[in-house]
Amino acid sequence: MSRVAIVIMAAGKGTRLKSKRPKVLHEIGGKPLLSHVIAAALEIVPAEDIYVVIGHEAERVKSATGSTGVRFVLQAEQRGTGHAIQCAQSSVEGYEHILVLSGDVPLIRSQTIAGIRDFHLEQHAAMTILTAAPDDPHGYGRVLRKTPASVEVSAIVEQKALTPEQAKAPEINSGIYAFQSGSLFRHIGKLETANAHAEYYLTDMACLLVDAGERVVALETEFPNEVLGANTIAELMMLDATLRNKTVHKLMAEGVTIIRPETGLIDAAVLVGGDTIIEPGVQLLGNTRIGENCRIRSYSVLENATIGDGVLIRQGSIVVDATIEANAMIGPYSHIRPGSEIGEGAHVGNFVETKKLKLGKGSKANHLSYLGDANIGSGVNLGAGVITCNYDGVDKHTTTIGEGVFVGSNSTLIAPITIGDGTYIAAGSCITHDVPQDALALGRARQTNKPGWARDRRERLARNQKP
Ligand code: UD1
Ligand code: MG
Repeated sequence: MSRVAIVIMAAGKGTRLKSKRPKVLHEIGGKPLLSHVIAAALEIVPAEDIYVVIGHEAERVKSATGSTGVRFVLQAEQRGTGHAIQCAQSSVEGYEHILVLSGDVPLIRSQTIAGIRDFHLEQHAAMTILTAAPDDPHGYGRVLRKTPASVEVSAIVEQKALTPEQAKAPEINSGIYAFQSGSLFRHIGKLETANAHAEYYLTDMACLLVDAGERVVALETEFPNEVLGANTIAELMMLDATLRNKTVHKLMAEGVTIIRPETGLIDAAVLVGGDTIIEPGVQLLGNTRIGENCRIRSYSVLENATIGDGVLIRQGSIVVDATIEANAMIGPYSHIRPGSEIGEGAHVGNFVETKKLKLGKGSKANHLSYLGDANIGSGVNLGAGVITCNYDGVDKHTTTIGEGVFVGSNSTLIAPITIGDGTYIAAGSCITHDVPQDALALGRARQTNKPGWARDRRERLARNQKP
């Protein structure tokens, strides 16, 4: 196999999006456009052979995608797609072939990239263009073949330069190409800017190479959807819907029941085990992982959540950057915040908020609690309204509760504090000191009853009201 580099053009501003965010960092399926393209490229060549051309907001693009290990090339001024490749010349001219991808064509599959590479090599072409025939070709460059049946191309004509006759051509330029690098760099200096945008168009390479007697061919993809570009918010949202639809179908094929999938939102990286049921209106975001045999009830939002097998998440719960172990029950309306680890078979119920909570196996916090920065053992029962007071206005402090503890309703536990195994905290207590193992702690005012006081008061009021 010849040495192949991939260049991804990602320096453009994305004027048509009317956004301050660079185009390639706009997201579909919960991930930036460019990250989708890099992921596909990584299935073809190693990271060190991938060169991303950046320019507009270069640092922002680099920090969002740099962890993949790809290399970056700077195109300080964006003077067109041809100029983007000129900027990459010194980095990639040592490779025999160069595959060019567009950072704003995110649904491209690695199989298709491999397909254009293989076709290009078989055809001994100087340039190979990936094309498609979508329902609506408007806005794309059109690829003109020498004759309709010919594999060879004579030119690519941009939308704005099309003659009425050429506008009837159904085949669009996907913005994805393979080049023999010797031919590309021998002629790329001849690109000119006599066009609607006064830019160096990479598409003009087709004509230049043909004029130089080189072979330019086209390969049409069977899946026009995968080469659609995202140039406007409307196009972006269409690609988002296409990708999410694909994700949902993949999960359903793996045995996941997703009821009325069009009502919810599932990001592309989400994994779900078989026999799990996802109810309407659920959002599964980021790197959420869900086990088998779970039920995620309506309007719950799970973001970067790790959920074991057999878990029930009831309606309207939020789980972010947290782990729920097997057979636990969450909700309705629980908010499980970052760093929480809810143990096997544990219950966290109505209107309970947790943050950095480690809750042991089988423990229960079923009603109206705040549990933050707390390590709680197994078999613990936390009554309604138990609050860990973790913040003193300056620092956060930890609450530690042993095993088999009973904390009565409406108790406040003022951290830092340690409550021993087997203890019993009386309801309504304000606990400010550590409690030793197996003790009863009471931290509340003693009740006094005044017999007859209420009746006497009623009578007194009634007497005073007489005329
Ligand atoms: C381009 C093609 C068009 C094709 C379409 C497919 C050209 C002239 N036209 O048009 O034939 O049908 O893609 O989606 O190439 N970029 C840079 N530096 C620049 C300019 C652009 O890196 O100076 C990057 C952009 O960030 C983008 C990609 O190149 O990721 C394509 O640029 P864009 O402006 O979107 O080109 P289109 O108008 O879509
Ligand atoms: Mg584009």
